[in-house]
Amino acid sequence: MPLANTAIVTGAAQGIGRATAERLAADGLHVACADIQDTERTVKSIEAAGGSAEGVTLDIRSARDWSSAVDGLLERHGPIGYLANVAGVVNMISEDSVVGLTEEAWDHVIDTDLKGPWLGMRAVIPGMIDNGGGRIVNISSLAALRGLPNLASYSAAKGGVAALTRQAAFEYADRNILVNAIAPGTIDTPILGDITPEMKQANANSHLIRRLGRPEEIASMVAYFFREGSFLTGLTYAVDGGWSAKGNF
Ligand SMILES: NC(=O)c1ccc[n+]([C@@H]2O[C@H](COP(=O)([O-])OP(=O)(O)OC[C@H]3O[C@@H](n4cnc5c(N)ncnc54)[C@H](O)[C@@H]3O)[C@@H](O)[C@H]2O)c1
Repeated sequence: MPLANTAIVTGAAQGIGRATAERLAADGLHVACADIQDTERTVKSIEAAGGSAEGVTLDIRSARDWSSAVDGLLERHGPIGYLANVAGVVNMISEDSVVGLTEEAWDHVIDTDLKGPWLGMRAVIPGMIDNGGGRIVNISSLAALRGLPNLASYSAAKGGVAALTRQAAFEYADRNILVNAIAPGTIDTPILGDITPEMKQANANSHLIRRLGRPEEIASMVAYFFREGSFLTGLTYAVDGGWSAKGNF
């Protein structure tokens, strides 16, 4: 049985989520562009390119939001074949060192970056099982795999995403649900905030390929997992311009 043609992409208002929504729509999926922010710009650009999309207002931290989004999509379009858990935050509330981090900041980052993807998987997997399968990609980070400055809550959340991805892959492979994660290097999106050109260049120089990544380069890996990766599950795959391949000199 072919997978259902509808995909949910969270974080679709901007950055990697927007590029992913546009890419999956160009590949022929109907894309539910989910975000806590308005996704009209993404939906319009998909439709202008001849694709099919709709906006869904969703706070990924809310189980209730997830069930009403999934129920609504099931009613309008039938089963959901694909989920890309892209939405995420960095800690903008406090310092993000182990000691300097506040409880409020920890809860915000863990709720968004770890609980959010779990709630998303919990919401879609039963329908995928009923429909004969599905594909899920979660966005982790290089911070899940390497120590980096001032990313304590973020690295804990993204490490959790890598572990949860492996666990979901383990539990549902025999139901034809393949679950993988991507660990991006530094990608040029609004999440970088107002960093100076010098800091941007320093980030770019961390990669063996000495530039920042582009959102489309993560989107194309999501598309690969969804359309091609028929023998891949449980991975956290680095798309990082060679950063994780670098020696320490
Ligand atoms: N840009 C990078 O360098 C980089 C590197 C590694 C991992 N990532 C991860 O990639 C993902 C996308 O990041 P980006 O760079 O596109 O960031 P971004 O800030 O440009 O986009 C994040 C999106 O998530 C949405 N979002 C935030 N909280 C939400 C919530 N509670 N519910 C629903 N939507 C919410 C935002 O509204 C926004 O549209 C994140 O998970 C991020 O941690 C980014």
